[in-house]
Amino acid sequence: MRSSRPTGSLVALVAAVALALGVGVAPASARPPHSGPGDKVPVATGYGGAVTTVDADATRVGLDVLRQGGNAVDAAVAAAATLGVTEPFSSGIGGGGFFVYYDAATGQVHTIDGRETAPMAMRSDSFVENGVSIPFADAVTSGLSVGVPGTPRTWATALEQWGSVDLRTALHGATEVARKGFVVDQTFADQTAANTARFSAFKSSAHLYLRHGAPPAVGSVFRNPDLAKTYDLLARNGVDALYTGKLADDIVETVQDPPAHKNSTLVVRPGLLELGDLASYQAPLRAPTLVSYRGLDVYGMAPPSSGGSTVGEALNILEASDLVGADPTQTLHHYLEASALAFADRNRYVGDPAFVDVPLAHLLSDGFAAERACLIDPAAALIKPVAPGVPDGDYTSCETAAVGTEGTDGQSTTHLTTADQWGNVVAYTLTIESLGGNGIVVPGRGFLLNNELTDFNFTDTQGGNDPNLPGPGKRPRSSMAPTIVLADGTPFLALGSPGGSTIITTVLQILVNRLDLGMDLPAAVAAPRATQRNTVAVQAEPGFDRTPLQALGHTFVDNPEIGAATAIEFLEDGALLAVAEPVRRGGGSAAVVQDR
Ligand code: GLY
Repeated sequence: MRSSRPTGSLVALVAAVALALGVGVAPASARPPHSGPGDKVPVATGYGGAVTTVDADATRVGLDVLRQGGNAVDAAVAAAATLGVTEPFSSGIGGGGFFVYYDAATGQVHTIDGRETAPMAMRSDSFVENGVSIPFADAVTSGLSVGVPGTPRTWATALEQWGSVDLRTALHGATEVARKGFVVDQTFADQTAANTARFSAFKSSAHLYLRHGAPPAVGSVFRNPDLAKTYDLLARNGVDALYTGKLADDIVETVQDPPAHKNSTLVVRPGLLELGDLASYQAPLRAPTLVSYRGLDVYGMAPPSSGGSTVGEALNILEASDLVGADPTQTLHHYLEASALAFADRNRYVGDPAFVDVPLAHLLSDGFAAERACLIDPAAALIKPVAPGVPDGDYTSCETAAVGTEGTDGQSTTHLTTADQWGNVVAYTLTIESLGGNGIVVPGRGFLLNNELTDFNFTDTQGGNDPNLPGPGKRPRSSMAPTIVLADGTPFLALGSPGGSTIITTVLQILVNRLDLGMDLPAAVAAPRATQRNTVAVQAEPGFDRTPLQALGHTFVDNPEIGAATAIEFLEDGALLAVAEPVRRGGGSAAVVQDR
């Protein structure tokens, strides 16, 4: 069904074209000091490398690194660091993420788990008071929700393992943007405004983001000199400077004694983080998840993210449903059903593998997928929520679907995708969890802390078997789904999205759009979305055509915007097709080193 596929000689072809075009020598002086809102282009096709993010400055900085001879890993770190400046309410060094990397030299896919980690003092009932969960909003804006940041260690690990530049070089462009400033766009202004009540409660946050008592005006230049100094510190001393020493002291003090105004009406609980938690943090390499879908190899992020297992299980269910030649309504019906079934299993079985025996091989097996696919009725939607399956190796039954319980999740985060002239590829999703994280800027340091520990379930949702309760040193289950798809061992697609648990369905729907519904990649990303995460009703964007699916029994509720994806496709002629959102989250920014 694919409209194009890369050839085995893609890497050599891209490299040859890049050399012929003389990329890697563009002078810095030819570029503007910072990008403006009008500089965003959502689709770019060409050679020599590509970067796609939600933000023009981040894309430009990543592209600069490629032009100066850096590789996809260098560009990903540089772009991510810039997003920490220009997209600070979704990512930054106060948060964590998952990094998926295709290494052209070996043909291997590697991943880094940079997930935030609960302090050793955390207990399964740390979000419970007097027998009931604390209000979710209270948990978000607190010290209690702060996990040990994983993003700095992820950057250091990625550069040490596969990078070609040091951290100082990778941080240079982002530091310039922080110091010299960037032009505020509507998205940044809106996201600041959405946080005004919280930011006003903390002197450090108000000082940075509400300088004149209000969000910065669209078109003004926003500078973050404190973050520039923090990046300088990391450039000089390495990321250990964040995990030990004075910066670690500042993080712990902020978590344990949040700097809320005395007259604030917010209830801001202190957190449990200690210096030892920061000092012992690790960002391990993990084996990627892998499923085969329509002859392609789909690599994703293993637990503690549920991204790879849930996207992979749903793809297996779709493949078991034999949709080749199906009409679009049946394809989308199966997409929704496969997603609901996979979410039931995710909610029941996936958590931090250091604490939970995740039956990953079974969840990703064709046998289990066939048993789950057997429940789907082409003529009628299943009653939601569906119950989880039993991934036990005995896959002969096709029972009636039982009713289960719904899961819950929020939305935020950011995703970037890079590729270089040598054929290396990065799909990297990073976050501080809620929009604006926990709302607290570390005083004098220029970055927000995460509230990632609200990704734990506060109380048991699975009848005594919840794999995602808090625990000491435990990583909360994530939905981040950075994904790389290979065809015959070479890159075909790389993609990912923000959006809490809708990340999984956004990645899945883009794959279905591209691989099963025959859309080209820009159309697959732009198409209206619907997300079925084992809930009674499907959430759908306004443009999604509900009528034929309603006839099958699906019910819908509105969701104004789902996800903000970025993706790269590797075309047959060796060109790169870099794609970002045309509209969602203000539109993204795709660029290639050399236009076709
Ligand atoms: N914080 C979003 C996720 O990890 O899925």
